Amino acid sequence: MLHRMEASPEFEELNPAPRLLMGPGPINADPRVLRAMAAPLLGQFDPQFRRYMRDTMALYRGVFCTANPWTMVVDGTARAAIEAVTASLVEPGDPVLVLSFGRFGQLKSEIAQRCGAEVHVIEVEWGRVFDPGQVEAALKRLSPRLVAVCQGDTSTTMLQPLAEIGPLCRRHGAWLQVDATATLGGVPLRVDEWQIDAVTAGLQKCLGGPSGIGPITFSDAAGRAIYRRRHIEQGLQTKDYVPGAGVRIGSNYFDLAMVMDYWSEMALNHHTEATSMLYAARECARILLQEGLDAAFDRHARAGRALVAGLQAMGLRIFGDIASKMPHVTGLYIPAGVNGDRARTAMLRDFNIEIGTSFGPLHGKIWRIGTMGYNARKDCVLMTLAALETVLAAEGYRFQRGAGVDAAIASYAAAQ
Ligand SMILES: Cc1ncc(COP(=O)(O)O)c(C=O)c1O
Repeated sequence: MLHRMEASPEFEELNPAPRLLMGPGPINADPRVLRAMAAPLLGQFDPQFRRYMRDTMALYRGVFCTANPWTMVVDGTARAAIEAVTASLVEPGDPVLVLSFGRFGQLKSEIAQRCGAEVHVIEVEWGRVFDPGQVEAALKRLSPRLVAVCQGDTSTTMLQPLAEIGPLCRRHGAWLQVDATATLGGVPLRVDEWQIDAVTAGLQKCLGGPSGIGPITFSDAAGRAIYRRRHIEQGLQTKDYVPGAGVRIGSNYFDLAMVMDYWSEMALNHHTEATSMLYAARECARILLQEGLDAAFDRHARAGRALVAGLQAMGLRIFGDIASKMPHVTGLYIPAGVNGDRARTAMLRDFNIEIGTSFGPLHGKIWRIGTMGYNARKDCVLMTLAALETVLAAEGYRFQRGAGVDAAIASYAAAQ
């Protein structure tokens, strides 16, 4: 057992390789975000820290395009935020409809099941998205209390249009919960205009931060429904405490009623805030809004278009319905005769570039490349294509060397 650490090669100082993370997330965090995370820690009830919390709420209202007072962050990765919304809005036995077009639709179904919901899933083939007619038919048939869907599912790279889904859910009396982990900051998401009741995200994709905290927003109506279930923990109860009339939320950590009290002026204790992660979330939103949402969407679109142009010029095939794909995540078929694992390993070993493998039915068939957040940049696209050209040539794949990089440069030039 180790009681005192000697200088030992086993426990040398952390020194991670300077990778370029071009998978479907995580991506490299913006250095400004990393600097913010190195700021001194504060107590969660320090007036200065409470101001940073209020700043974070205001900044994320801008990011989510919402006036929702209940806009904050949940400590934990993106799935923590999903689980918090589901556990707090769904009561055991409630019918929940999941619109699943990939692995992360399946995740929402699993989380809802674990919250005791009666879960119904409708699916489309991986590589496609839903049309509003399919959703309306399911709403009529199942009368769910909540509908859960990804805006973008990284497992398939597809982007679900949402503008019509929110009003449909309203008309049928269902909450709409959207997982924007893969899309927030990369494509438009108009929470109020599209009548979305709850949205969750993470920092590690288009927001250019590390994973570990989940921005979240929910409507007043959703907030009221959650607050009806308010049961504060025993150690914090006062003599005049009266619990809410609704069923107690089944999770303590993900009890959004308690999290609301923690974030509100009441400042009621709950968890110990993940201070450095809150700094990161605040800085991600600040950077994004400083750039401007439209400028950031355009940067993501240009990077994605240039990558696709480069891959196609190399004769590579793009996965799924291109018209429905997220601009900033691209799936490409691994060419016949190429050893997918060996090629990805060569990308990492020889070029320090990580690209993504894939899950389920797509495993071993496609790679996924992300051009997101801090890495939605021309230099990242060109370096990835150049490295891929070298690696594929070594694998014996025949194509015109240099065509990928040239096409990406031309795509960027045409966008100016
Ligand atoms: C669409 C989507 N939802 C949820 C998640 C889960 O996020 P996390 O790993 O941060 O919990 C991911 C992760 O890649 C994702 O892409």
